[in-house]
Amino acid sequence: MSSHGRQTTSLVLYFNFHFFLSFFCYLPVPVVFSALSSNQKTAMIDLSNSLNASAGGAVSWDVNKEPNPCSWKGVGCNSSTNSSVIRISLSGHSISSSEFLPLVCRIESLQVLDVSRNRLTTIPPGFISACGKLGELKLLNFSVNNLVGRLPAFVGFSALEALDFARNNLSGNIDSELDGLVKLRSLNLTFNHFTGPVPTLLGKSKVLEELELSMNMFDGLIPDEIVGYPNLTLVDLSVNQLTGIIPARIGELSKLEVLILSANKLSGGIPQSISNITSLWRFAANSNDFNEKIPGGITKHLKNLDLSYNKLSGSIPSDLLSARNLQTLDLSNNRLEGPVPEVLSPSLVRLRLGSNLLDGKIPSAAIATRENLTYLEMENNKLIGSIPPEVGDCRKLALLNLAQNRLSGALPANLGNLSSLEVLRLQSNHLSGEIPIQITQLPKLSVLNISWNSLNGSIPPSVSQMQSLVNMNLQGNKLSGSIPVGIASMNSLMELQLGQNQLSGDIPRMPANLQIALNLSSNLFQGHIPETLSRLSGLELLDLSNNNFSGKIPDFLTTLAALTQLSLSNNELSGEIPKFPSWVMVDAHGNKGLINRTTINTPPQLEKKKKSYAVTIVLALVAAVLAFGAIPIVAVSIGLMMNKCKQRKNLLFLRSSRAIS
Ligand SMILES: *[C@@H]1O[C@H](CO)[C@@H](O)[C@H](O)[C@H]1NC(C)=O
Ligand SMILES: *[C@@H]1O[C@H](CO)[C@@H](O)[C@H](O)[C@H]1NC(C)=O
Ligand SMILES: *[C@@H]1O[C@H](CO)[C@@H](O)[C@H](O)[C@H]1NC(C)=O
Ligand SMILES: *[C@@H]1O[C@H](CO)[C@@H](O)[C@H](O)[C@H]1NC(C)=O
Ligand SMILES: *[C@@H]1O[C@H](CO)[C@@H](O)[C@H](O)[C@H]1NC(C)=O
Ligand SMILES: *[C@@H]1O[C@H](CO)[C@@H](O)[C@H](O)[C@H]1NC(C)=O
Ligand SMILES: *[C@@H]1O[C@H](CO)[C@@H](O)[C@H](O)[C@H]1NC(C)=O
Repeated sequence: MSSHGRQTTSLVLYFNFHFFLSFFCYLPVPVVFSALSSNQKTAMIDLSNSLNASAGGAVSWDVNKEPNPCSWKGVGCNSSTNSSVIRISLSGHSISSSEFLPLVCRIESLQVLDVSRNRLTTIPPGFISACGKLGELKLLNFSVNNLVGRLPAFVGFSALEALDFARNNLSGNIDSELDGLVKLRSLNLTFNHFTGPVPTLLGKSKVLEELELSMNMFDGLIPDEIVGYPNLTLVDLSVNQLTGIIPARIGELSKLEVLILSANKLSGGIPQSISNITSLWRFAANSNDFNEKIPGGITKHLKNLDLSYNKLSGSIPSDLLSARNLQTLDLSNNRLEGPVPEVLSPSLVRLRLGSNLLDGKIPSAAIATRENLTYLEMENNKLIGSIPPEVGDCRKLALLNLAQNRLSGALPANLGNLSSLEVLRLQSNHLSGEIPIQITQLPKLSVLNISWNSLNGSIPPSVSQMQSLVNMNLQGNKLSGSIPVGIASMNSLMELQLGQNQLSGDIPRMPANLQIALNLSSNLFQGHIPETLSRLSGLELLDLSNNNFSGKIPDFLTTLAALTQLSLSNNELSGEIPKFPSWVMVDAHGNKGLINRTTINTPPQLEKKKKSYAVTIVLALVAAVLAFGAIPIVAVSIGLMMNKCKQRKNLLFLRSSRAIS
């Protein structure tokens, strides 16, 4: 399984096991003198010795230092009398030997055993046979170990309610290994290598509430038998290889709260019956092959719906976005067409409709006063019309992405009301008019991408106020005038893309933290490449191409430590190209006055010519000395020549003169 797939675990909700909390609640009861039975004390001492031998001192249980095992770290005794051990937690001790495990089963009052986050590779058969007899054991946590092989067959364990094997290397099919667990309410097998069909024999008494099988290699269909567990509240089958359709009978799981089917190969449609489950608040079926229309009504009870990365078609049902509890909806990367529905839920926090085929206008009424809306993404569709000024009323908006549509008209000044806005992506539309200064007053904006539009006028001098801005992309517009001098004080700016505009004038001092890129290409800049660029020691990409820069290529460019790409092509630069470090990709073509020293040095033909030229000069000088005996003049001339040579870092002259003397 790919590491990418595994990372998606973080997306999967892990649920608190409220029904176990009670075991850890120590009630404030008056102190009663009491102690463990000698049986239990002996068992605990044996266990501590075994752990001391196998865990190499990682577990600090020492009966000589603390005679009462109830006080040992990770040990819990019954709260009223301390007469029996009910909880043993050995989580996170790097234990690799499983030898101690059967000893645990001598604590007949044990309710919770947590050996998570160790390096266990096996569960000894003696553990299953002995612990299977414990009448109180409710929770077994083996998660985050290195267990290999098949899931052991559980016999006994008549009180076991929760079994956690998440994040191990268990493999093989699962058949009836767990069917004897008559009280099993929670099963977590996330992130193993299990194969074959989704197991359906999960406790004969059918009391299962939580089933987490994510990130395995289960294949085949989602079994109808799953609806035989009427208490299910959580079903997570994500990141497996399940095929076929979602059985319509899933709607019979009337207590279901969370259903996660993401990243499988499921196809067909989303069953309408989902809407029958009044308790369901989260449903994710993203990254599958669903290709039908979305049925109406499915968000009736939902808070979170994710159907992104499928092939869903047709238009968005008019009631889908308006359901009153709906907080997040992701329909991005489908083939949805038609308009964006007019009515949006007032609870909506995140709406993602990007990369579909949606057309029509952005419904202004839908957007107006959606005061919880924080993330609004409709990029890469076919939306037309202008950006509704009402967007400015969504005061919590942190991300607005309407890029790659066919939006036209001006940028609404109301965008300046979005005091929480961090990312504004409106690139690749047909927006026109000037950049409203209100946009430069967004205090939290870190990404401004309004590239590839038809914006005109000049860059507002108030951009200097944008102290949070990291990426500023204004390329591909019709901006004119000069770059505001205040830009130097944009202390967070790391990327400045101003290419393909009609900017002119002097290049002001740039913000010292520029790192990703400074791109001034295809504008009307002229004059020398300014000395102030030498401050940009972190800059990786500098593009000054397609302007009218003249003069020499300054030497400091060769010493910009982070520079990897330099484009100077199609300017009026002259003189010699200085020597750049080998890792800098330099493009200097299209400058008529430039001399490429490398070209001069390498071909032998040219070198010979050059040499003889230098020789001629030296001979002429020698002749001058002989003719006039005027030492001072000669000294000055030689000095001048040496200087030139130094500038060009060319040794030819010295070589030639040495040859003569
Ligand atoms: C643990 O084992 C070490 C030797 O491996 C021994 O020196 C130490 O006394 C043991 N501690 C306990 C509590 O038994
Ligand atoms: C039980 O043991 C714990 C841990 O040593 C201690 O804090 C608690 O006071 C004891 N309770 C009683 C009733 O003795
Ligand atoms: C098992 O242990 C892990 C890691 O310590 C923890 O995150 C998880 O919630 C535990 N599982 C149960 C069912 O308590
Ligand atoms: C801005 O948009 C352009 C054009 O789509 C894209 O190439 C660039 O990566 C974007 N930059 C940022 C920082 O969003
Ligand atoms: C910008 O373009 C608009 C038309 O879109 C025009 O009315 C306006 O005069 C232009 N402004 C500048 C400064 O060129
Ligand atoms: C600089 O921007 C122009 C467009 O404005 C783009 O074509 C070019 O690739 C950019 N330069 C570099 C080196 O990325
Ligand atoms: C100079 O010429 C050499 C040899 O033709 C070439 O490899 C190099 O890229 C040229 N340098 C520049 C900056 O154009």
